[in-house]
Amino acid sequence: MDNSSATRVFFLIWFFAATFSFCKVNSNISCNKKEKQALLNLKRGLTDPWNALSSWSDQEDCCKWAGVHCDNKTARVTKLQLGNLNLNGEISPSLLELEHLNYLDLSISNFNCTRIPSFLSSMGSMRHLNLASAGFCGLIPHQLGNISDLRYLNLGYNLGLYVHSLHWMSSLSSMKFLDMSSVNLSSALDWLQIMSRLSSLSELYLQNCHLDSLNPSLGFLNFTSLLVLDLSVNLFIHEIPSWFSNISSTLLELDLSSNVLKGEIPCGVSNFQNLEHLVLGLNYLTGKIPESFGQLKHLTVLDLELNYFSGPIPHPLGIYLICGSTVDEVFFTKLSKLKYLDLSRTPLFFNVNSNWVPPFQLIYAHMSSCKIGPSFPAWLQTQRSLKVLLMSMSGILDKAPSWFWNWTSNVDFVNLSANNIEGDVPNLLVNSTVLDLSSNHLKGQLPRLSANVRVLNVANNLFSGPISTFLCQKTNRKNKLQVLDASNNLLSGEFSHCWRYWQSLIHLNLGSNRLSGRIPNSMGSLVALKALRLPNNSIYGDIPSSLQKCSNLGLLDIGENNLSMTIPLWIGEMKSLTILRLRSSGFRGHIPLQTCQLSSLRILDLANNSLSGPIPKCLNFINSMAMPHIENYETMEYFEDAGTYFESLMLVPKGRELRYEENLIFVSIIDLSSNNLSGSIPNEISVLFQLHFLNLSRNHLTGKIPEKIGTMKELESIDLSRNHLSGEIPPSMSNLTFLSYLDLSYNNFSGRIPLSTQLQSFDALRYTGNPELCGAPLRKNCTKEQKSDGDTPLGNAEDESETSWFYIGLGVGFALGFWGVCGALFFKRTWRHAYFRFVYDMKDQAYVTTVLKVNWICKKFKKLTFW
Ligand SMILES: *[C@@H]1O[C@H](CO)[C@@H](O)[C@H](O)[C@H]1NC(C)=O
Ligand SMILES: *[C@@H]1O[C@H](CO)[C@@H](O)[C@H](O)[C@H]1NC(C)=O
Ligand SMILES: *[C@@H]1O[C@H](CO)[C@@H](O)[C@H](O)[C@H]1NC(C)=O
Ligand SMILES: *[C@@H]1O[C@H](CO)[C@@H](O)[C@H](O)[C@H]1NC(C)=O
Ligand SMILES: *[C@@H]1O[C@H](CO)[C@@H](O)[C@H](O)[C@H]1NC(C)=O
Ligand SMILES: *[C@@H]1O[C@H](CO)[C@@H](O)[C@H](O)[C@H]1NC(C)=O
Ligand SMILES: *[C@@H]1O[C@H](CO)[C@@H](O)[C@H](O)[C@H]1NC(C)=O
Ligand SMILES: *[C@@H]1O[C@H](CO)[C@@H](O)[C@H](O)[C@H]1NC(C)=O
Ligand SMILES: *[C@@H]1O[C@H](CO)[C@@H](O)[C@H](O)[C@H]1NC(C)=O
Ligand SMILES: *[C@@H]1O[C@H](CO)[C@@H](O)[C@H](O)[C@H]1NC(C)=O
Ligand SMILES: *[C@@H]1O[C@H](CO)[C@@H](O)[C@H](O)[C@H]1NC(C)=O
Repeated sequence: MDNSSATRVFFLIWFFAATFSFCKVNSNISCNKKEKQALLNLKRGLTDPWNALSSWSDQEDCCKWAGVHCDNKTARVTKLQLGNLNLNGEISPSLLELEHLNYLDLSISNFNCTRIPSFLSSMGSMRHLNLASAGFCGLIPHQLGNISDLRYLNLGYNLGLYVHSLHWMSSLSSMKFLDMSSVNLSSALDWLQIMSRLSSLSELYLQNCHLDSLNPSLGFLNFTSLLVLDLSVNLFIHEIPSWFSNISSTLLELDLSSNVLKGEIPCGVSNFQNLEHLVLGLNYLTGKIPESFGQLKHLTVLDLELNYFSGPIPHPLGIYLICGSTVDEVFFTKLSKLKYLDLSRTPLFFNVNSNWVPPFQLIYAHMSSCKIGPSFPAWLQTQRSLKVLLMSMSGILDKAPSWFWNWTSNVDFVNLSANNIEGDVPNLLVNSTVLDLSSNHLKGQLPRLSANVRVLNVANNLFSGPISTFLCQKTNRKNKLQVLDASNNLLSGEFSHCWRYWQSLIHLNLGSNRLSGRIPNSMGSLVALKALRLPNNSIYGDIPSSLQKCSNLGLLDIGENNLSMTIPLWIGEMKSLTILRLRSSGFRGHIPLQTCQLSSLRILDLANNSLSGPIPKCLNFINSMAMPHIENYETMEYFEDAGTYFESLMLVPKGRELRYEENLIFVSIIDLSSNNLSGSIPNEISVLFQLHFLNLSRNHLTGKIPEKIGTMKELESIDLSRNHLSGEIPPSMSNLTFLSYLDLSYNNFSGRIPLSTQLQSFDALRYTGNPELCGAPLRKNCTKEQKSDGDTPLGNAEDESETSWFYIGLGVGFALGFWGVCGALFFKRTWRHAYFRFVYDMKDQAYVTTVLKVNWICKKFKKLTFW
């Protein structure tokens, strides 16, 4: 979704920028006095932040003013091109005095959520009205239906426009171009009937209009002269209606992407013999691709990218179960004009001969998660214009042929990650802007880089050789590399001092190699760095204080090394740090109080070291764990057109190691487990309202659990096991409604386990080793005085039968969003227990990648709909 909407947005910007141009009419007749006055009145009402109307002065002929066009015979004003000037203020009704005005463009303005002035409807000569992205709100005045000669109406991308009905539109029979994208049309139930009667309509854009039905029961619809139909980003939750086949024989572009369309693509789509763009991506379409598609010989864009909700739906319940279908050579025979092909994330088998010569020359091929392999796709060699090749997870299980390496140097974006491509990479000069070969079986030395390369991702391969050869290589000194991920390879040796040649680096990951030696001072020259990751090597010595110069550093991960040092006090100066991971690296001494100065910190992982002393009381100063904050995406992700890079991180949120990827941005964790920390858990910790995971297990902590722990509403996991904590479990813990993992075992807790919500749903093992603890789920009954009323026994027959039903329902819930589930949970207590057990059983993988991904998608989507 992201790429195509980005393209769309880009296109819009380009479109508007291109359409606005100042033209001065080269004529000697001067303008009408009355009209000049009217224009001056218009100017007076408007605010003109860029001073674009400075030429509108009393002295000048108004036909020579910027954006004003006059008829060259009569000198009457016919055209006002005032788009893309960011105008705001009030549109004066003096506009009505321009009796011959037939063209008004006020697009890309900022009318501050005012209504579209209804007096515009009295401009009888108007043919072209462009109010796109002008900041209008509210009800679209039905009076616009009086402008009977209107040919072009663009009301798209105004936030908060809506209609009660579209009946007024019936009279606009000359309309050729209509764009109402992002207008709320949900009340206009008969939009289809009305718009199909506009017999001149050739372009119709209704993206994101909150439409929920294509009215499958309609028998027949005839949009006589439609060329372009965009119904993307709506809420159609049904099959593509059969009437679709007949809507127009002239159609050139059809976009139904980002809906919830189900079922098969009707064969009738091939009635659109002239079709050039077919975009059906991000739906739930199933079944076979009609063979007749192959007859669409004018097709240049084919986008069938599927599975809009495939991320959020847990694997076993989701639509991965859709049966695949096959496309073969025959399918493409006539598609000689195809330039843009997106079959990504479809379960299609791409079944072509090894000597196939396709009839097309693609520019863009997105076939990730399509079944391309096991052989390397030899037909790629025939593609001489390709700029973007995205073919990750496509089941290629083969050696990369020798032609491939030279061939890629002309392809700007290459992603062949997560296949099983084997072979020795020759002494290669990489020339692609983005080269992602991660997760294959490639061998050899790291390649050389031309100055074009921005992203080199060769993580999870078998690359070997000394890292210094690569870093100090002469050809590489002019590199402009921004992302280097060579983690999980067999690179060896010490870091050199050549880091000064790599000052463009933003993301650097050399984790899980065989690197040794110290971190050199010269790393301080990487001033653009946002993420530095060297975990799981054999690095020793201290962290050089020169790293302080990397003031943009948001992610520092040097866990699993042999640093054997104290945590430097200057760490407090690294104000951008959001992730600090020093796990399993032999750190000694106290946790410095300076850590609390890291007010953007969200992940603090110091587990499995030899840290001693108390947990700093000042943790409450870590603002980003205490208050809602704006996520800093830049530390975690990198976008370069078709190339993206997400940081991922192994964390241990709930007693097991998990990889966090796109969702990393939303996670907040404190993991101080397996150290020698002593003293009590500071009460101050309970203001960390945004914390999700707290692990203090395997230390020597004493005292009680802070009484107010129940205020940490976002907590999903608490592990305090194997300490010397005592006292009762605070009743406020029953307020932690998201808690899905709890381990209090092997302490000295006493009293009854507080009743309600999910505390009873955890396995008894999570409470064991506390001889004085009683109550469900422990078998030990509490004595009379410990018992409170309102206690009902768990797990009666009726509840059991409902539990499995709940599991099934949950799949749907996840798709709809976590909060929907949580809302429903409060209806029934047994459901709550079942839910929390489910999340625990589902093995957090699904939980983490679903819930957080839903959030992620929603946020992305919000960014998009903001437009
Ligand atoms: C406009 O007037 C100028 C002189 O006043 C003359 O040279 C020019 O040819 C005229 N242009 C037109 C389009 O009539
Ligand atoms: C008026 O302008 C139009 C467009 O610029 C041009 O095609 C037409 O010939 C002009 N008419 C006269 C009388 O100059
Ligand atoms: C926009 O409208 C709001 C509320 O109506 C007002 O407070 C604000 O000053 C307006 N902004 C401009 C630039 O007119
Ligand atoms: C629109 O036209 C109708 C009749 O066609 C007329 O009654 C009405 O006054 C007009 N409205 C405006 C705002 O011009
Ligand atoms: C669209 O309008 C309908 C009815 O007026 C309203 O119920 C709905 O909330 C609106 N949707 C959005 C997203 O504003
Ligand atoms: C649709 O309407 C046009 C004009 O009214 C007509 O020429 C065309 O044949 C119709 N299409 C169908 C499939 O009926
Ligand atoms: C509509 O399209 C279908 C499928 O191509 C065709 O069988 C049918 O005859 C068409 N109906 C009309 C009225 O054109
Ligand atoms: C690749 O290109 C280099 C230099 O352009 C050339 O020397 C080499 O022979 C080419 N290799 C193949 C396999 O085409
Ligand atoms: C490297 O890429 C640039 C543009 O991206 C291209 O002009 C140039 O020919 C390429 N160089 C080689 C050796 O392929
Ligand atoms: C749980 O939270 C509610 C409201 O936030 C509060 O009134 C109540 O006292 C809390 N319960 C406990 C046991 O702390
Ligand atoms: C706990 O109490 C229940 C009934 O309240 C009783 O059936 C059970 O035997 C008791 N268990 C123990 C270990 O005393």
